[in-house]
Amino acid sequence: MFCESSKELAHFVSEARAFTNQGKVADYIPALGKANPHDLSIAIKYPDGRYVSAGDVKKKFTLQSISKVISLALVLSDHGPDYVFDKVGMEPTGDPFNSIAKLENMVPAKPLNPMINAGALVVTHMIEGKSVDARFQRLLAFIHDLTNDYTIDYCEQTAQSEYETADLNRALSYFLKQHGQIDEPVEHLIQLYTKQCAIEMNCLQLARIAMVFAQDGKDHETGKQIISKDIARICKTFMVTCGMYNASGEFAIKIGIPAKSGVSGGIMGAVPGKFGIGIFGPALDDKGNSIAGLKLLELLSKNYSLSMF
Ligand code: DON
Repeated sequence: MFCESSKELAHFVSEARAFTNQGKVADYIPALGKANPHDLSIAIKYPDGRYVSAGDVKKKFTLQSISKVISLALVLSDHGPDYVFDKVGMEPTGDPFNSIAKLENMVPAKPLNPMINAGALVVTHMIEGKSVDARFQRLLAFIHDLTNDYTIDYCEQTAQSEYETADLNRALSYFLKQHGQIDEPVEHLIQLYTKQCAIEMNCLQLARIAMVFAQDGKDHETGKQIISKDIARICKTFMVTCGMYNASGEFAIKIGIPAKSGVSGGIMGAVPGKFGIGIFGPALDDKGNSIAGLKLLELLSKNYSLSMF
């Protein structure tokens, strides 16, 4: 039996919140530097529609790298796995998310997986549409389906802040373009990618997306199969092997669920066959994962035996 009461969850949140003191909010994207490092909230969404939550769960945050799982699900649905995995690999890197190191040694320059920035840029490049805006609207429409919430949009200020400072992602994109892995103007790709990363939601909405992945791509509340079972499986597998970057191995041992983090402090966790988790805690550890969010998941995993291993 998992946590059924918000009161019970609040107890774990207050225990994990102490760890926010040991983390730091991301400020390499200046807009993210304004977050309150002591925030910590969690929502759990069950397939029957119930939510259990604790903390300020209505506070919005940007998805950042969590969006990489969603864009991957979209391009896999549009193009199929053979096309996508011809351009981006399936292996963890053990390197930081924005590293260029392994890309240089790959022939052809194929990013090792879609959860690192190089791989995510190749995936975003595959989003179809006639213009950057049309492609972005396509991704947003997919998120509207996943959340069953048509109000979700992006934070223009955060997108602009990242766009103005995204030189490392530009460097990765130019490298990929030189090696034929992308064939559009780098500025277009960076515009689309920074908007994608700036899509904004709260823990309740994130938990709902996680629940769809947990339930093999189906939203049991609406009865809609939003992602195929096979694509949900592929995405969850990447979440296990690469979702927490170069902390994925430790996360698998200590917590043991498919999860994806973002530098805004969000974590999306999908407990297979059971429920979805959305967490927001902007103080990060040195690998870019929410420090208190990880602690909270560790407490929950131990208490309720969540590990799938
Ligand atoms: O590309 C970037 O640097 C950010 N938009 C996203 C990075 C990120 O969230 C990595 N997460 N832990």
